[in-house]
Amino acid sequence: MFPESCKKFLKPWIPRSLRGAYHRLRGRPIGHILNQRDDYPQLKQVGIEELFPGIGSLAARLPLIATNGEDSSPLPPRELAVLGAICLYCKPRRVFEIGTYQGGSTLVIALNTPEDTVVYTLDLDASARQTHKHGLGTGGFPQFEVGSHYRGSPVQSKVRQLLGNSATYNFEPFLNSMNLVLVDADHTYEFVQKDTRTALALLAPLGIILWDDYIWTEGNPECAGVTRSLNELARSRKLFQIEGTRLAFYRAGGG
Ligand SMILES: C[S@@+](CC[C@H](N)C(=O)[O-])C[C@H]1O[C@@H](n2cnc3c(N)ncnc32)[C@H](O)[C@@H]1O
Repeated sequence: MFPESCKKFLKPWIPRSLRGAYHRLRGRPIGHILNQRDDYPQLKQVGIEELFPGIGSLAARLPLIATNGEDSSPLPPRELAVLGAICLYCKPRRVFEIGTYQGGSTLVIALNTPEDTVVYTLDLDASARQTHKHGLGTGGFPQFEVGSHYRGSPVQSKVRQLLGNSATYNFEPFLNSMNLVLVDADHTYEFVQKDTRTALALLAPLGIILWDDYIWTEGNPECAGVTRSLNELARSRKLFQIEGTRLAFYRAGGG
C-alpha cells in the first residue's frame, strides 16, 4: 500500500506530547478516503543541489533545541538542515510561516537569514485551541507554549508572532511580499487547500513555498491532505519533492 519511498519516513511528525490527543482524534473520520491516486506522492523528486547549485557545502546553524528529537521540533534534522541551507542560499528578507508550534523551524529560519529579515509566524491563540474546529474535529490540543524555542534566543527580535486561525486570518497586510513561505499547520485537505492559496498570495516575485509533510505515513494519514492538495496543484504549477525529505517545493516564476 505504501510506496517504498514513504517507508523511510515512518516517524510520526506529531510530537510525543501531542500524540494522546492525536490518537483520540484519529478515531474520527479524516474527511476523505485514502484510496485515490492523488492521496499518494506523485511530485518529481529533485536533489537540493539541482534546485540550488552549490548549496550542499553551506553550513546552516541548527540549534540543539530544534534538533533535540521529535518533542522539540516536528521537522527532523535533515529537513531543518535543508530549510536552514535554503535560507542561507536565498537570503529571504521577508518570511511567513503558517504553523509555529514551539518555534523550532522559526528559530532555524531566524538563525540562517540576514540580520534585517523579518519572520512572521502564525499559530492558533492558545485560548482558542479547545474550541477550534480543525480537520479532525474540535479541540483536543495539549498544552504547549507557542514559540518557546525562539523566545529568549539572540534572534528573537527578527520574529513577529501572529495568533489566529489560518483559515480566517486577515493576510491582507502581507500579500505579494514574502520571499519564503513555510506551510506546516493543519495537514487535512481543506486546511491545506486554504493555506496553499494563502501561501501563493503571500509570495513576492521569485518567492519560494515549502510545505512539510508531503509524504505521509500510516501513523498520520491526515497528512495525505498535503499530498492530495499538492498533487492537484502540480497540474498547473511546477512543484517538486525535495529528495530525502518530506518537503515539497515551489518557486514563483518557475513555471
Ligand atoms: C506541525 S506543527 C508546526 C511545527 C513547526 N513548523 C515546527 O517545525 O516546529 C503545526 C502547528 O500548526 C498549528 N495549527 C494547526 N491548525 C492551525 C490553523 N488553522 N491556524 C493556525 N495554526 C494552526 C498547531 O497549533 C501547531 O502548533
